[in-house]
Amino acid sequence: MTKKETFSQMILNNSYFLKAYNKIVHPIFLSFFAHKKMNFVVVYHDLLALDPESQTSKKSIPENILDLACGTGWYGRKLRLEHKEQGTCIYAVDIATNTLKIAQKEKIKYGFGDNFQIINWNAEKLDLFEDNSFHEIWICGALHQMPHVDLVLNEITRLLDQDGKLFCQTFVKDEQAHSLIIRLCEKLGHHFFTKEELVIKLRQRNLKLINYSRSGLVALFYAQRTAD
Ligand SMILES: C[S@@+](CC[C@H](N)C(=O)[O-])C[C@H]1O[C@@H](n2cnc3c(N)ncnc32)[C@H](O)[C@@H]1O
Repeated sequence: MTKKETFSQMILNNSYFLKAYNKIVHPIFLSFFAHKKMNFVVVYHDLLALDPESQTSKKSIPENILDLACGTGWYGRKLRLEHKEQGTCIYAVDIATNTLKIAQKEKIKYGFGDNFQIINWNAEKLDLFEDNSFHEIWICGALHQMPHVDLVLNEITRLLDQDGKLFCQTFVKDEQAHSLIIRLCEKLGHHFFTKEELVIKLRQRNLKLINYSRSGLVALFYAQRTAD
């Protein structure tokens, strides 16, 4: 990593922590902040439901999907399974090498081939991909812990094709939440957005917020790339 890591980035590359991440840490952490039971499956389905196209029978078939800041790769694997018949290629990208070791082991376990690519790269500068390379980008549990969110959003916009889809789970401020918890997380490198802040950041980049939902401090949104 070239730039200074946040505490969150550091911990998510710790192999002991990562062993318990998928089954224990992730659902407990997410449910605590959402104030209701939440896990990967819930986030995946709730995010998809935010896309109006998912309610119709006319669904686009993406050639390539990016699971950005994929961690251990749960979303990438789910997307691969969902698009198995269509030959969609999933690119699972993360900056942390240890988390990608787990993603790699899982890839083998699932028997995925070339249509599931695992790449160690920084989301701030995804110069390995050409403009308009993806019809879908997923970024879950990560935007709030990235020190240079604007650079990451610039890259997401560049990589999405016209009408390309952005699915995101992140954290937002909630007036009812104990400010001590927010302050502690902020010390660890988490940023809690406001909805307005997200809308502005998206609009500045021709990304239109289509649907948004929030449970406690957990925000899910679906945005679409509009014409320049
Ligand atoms: C909480 S994990 C979420 C992982 C996965 N998307 C999930 O929902 O389980 C956040 C991930 O963001 C990754 N990350 C943080 N900053 C990054 C950056 N600049 N480029 C790529 N990945 C980054 C971390 O390494 C970590 O794996």
